[in-house]
Amino acid sequence: LYKPVGELRSPICCILGHVDTGKTTLLDKIRNTNVQEGEAGGITQQIGATFFPAKKLKEELIKTQQFYPVDCNVPGLLIIDTPGHESFSNLRTRGSSLCDLAILVIDLMHGLENQTLESLELLKMRKTPFIIALNKIDRCVEWKNKKNASSYHQLQNQTKNCKMDYESKRQQVITQLAEKGFNVAFFWENEDPKTYISVVPTSGVTGEGIPDLLSVIVKYTSVFMKNKIKVKEQFNCTVLEKKVTEGHGTTIDCLLVDGQIKKDDKIILAGFQGPIITKVRALLTPHPMKEMRVKGEYIHHDVIYASMGLKISAVGLEEAMAGSQMYLANTQDDIDKATDLINNE
Ligand code: GTP
Ligand code: NA
Ligand code: MG
Repeated sequence: LYKPVGELRSPICCILGHVDTGKTTLLDKIRNTNVQEGEAGGITQQIGATFFPAKKLKEELIKTQQFYPVDCNVPGLLIIDTPGHESFSNLRTRGSSLCDLAILVIDLMHGLENQTLESLELLKMRKTPFIIALNKIDRCVEWKNKKNASSYHQLQNQTKNCKMDYESKRQQVITQLAEKGFNVAFFWENEDPKTYISVVPTSGVTGEGIPDLLSVIVKYTSVFMKNKIKVKEQFNCTVLEKKVTEGHGTTIDCLLVDGQIKKDDKIILAGFQGPIITKVRALLTPHPMKEMRVKGEYIHHDVIYASMGLKISAVGLEEAMAGSQMYLANTQDDIDKATDLINNE
């Protein structure tokens, strides 16, 4: 299950932005879930992960193929959700440092806000490639929506009033971005996506722009980041969160970036009282297109291939440190090397 067949692994994208710009709602629309409605105060407080299989991507990519043809040669797409609330900047840093490509969500009605600026700084500092989702286009005056349609098509189908409203608002955002030194271009006319940041108009409420967003992500990662997302043997896995999971005790949610992990593998990771060595008791994932941070049904695996979000159940994880690197510890040599790395982290 989920084993990559071609030379590429699933790209990892992280969704960043100011609080309430619509990050989780956009993911809900792609997943067909209601995660956002279940959040306390509608505020995301944890890092999440969702896997989208190639089959789903292909269904969406068809909707843009006339004007923006993209081959889907990745096995899927892994999207990391992050909180926009100012108090979670550590989680934004963690999420963005793990991704291949970031999606910065900007509310078309509000333009650049505090955590938009913080995210831009973070991305610039780490040289993380990113694209912009210009969200809430459905709030333009007289907007006529068509569920889950291409926003490129939909923008052409609006009234004159609506187009004027949209154009003045999008221009304000583009000007604000230019003032900060970021040059952007709408994805359908962006001939140099490594110089100009691609902008994708979206709506998390109507799903308009979802096909466009997925097309741009797949194209960007599989064309410009081909080397970065090649399947690699070298094990690379990070602990995203530590939490108690019903029926499993203390577990860790991890992001497997490269390599593979098997049930019964020995692992080593940083703990508050020193390195923890333990054995994988269960390797779990949510179903495809389900959010890992939401309580639900888990699939048990014997082996998991990168890239994937997974939950590990094992003895002794109570002291595990979220945000740290995890290593395989099947041989004494593995253990010695990893202990050094952990002690120097
Ligand atoms: P945090 O994770 O807390 O930072 O917020 P978020 O960016 O995930 O935003 P969230 O999905 O919680 O959405 C915030 C509010 O905006 C909710 O009431 C959504 O229904 C609304 N919203 C999100 N996207 C859209 C959109 O495209 N159009 C409109 N009209 N409302 C939206
Ligand atoms: Na929110
Ligand atoms: Mg959210």
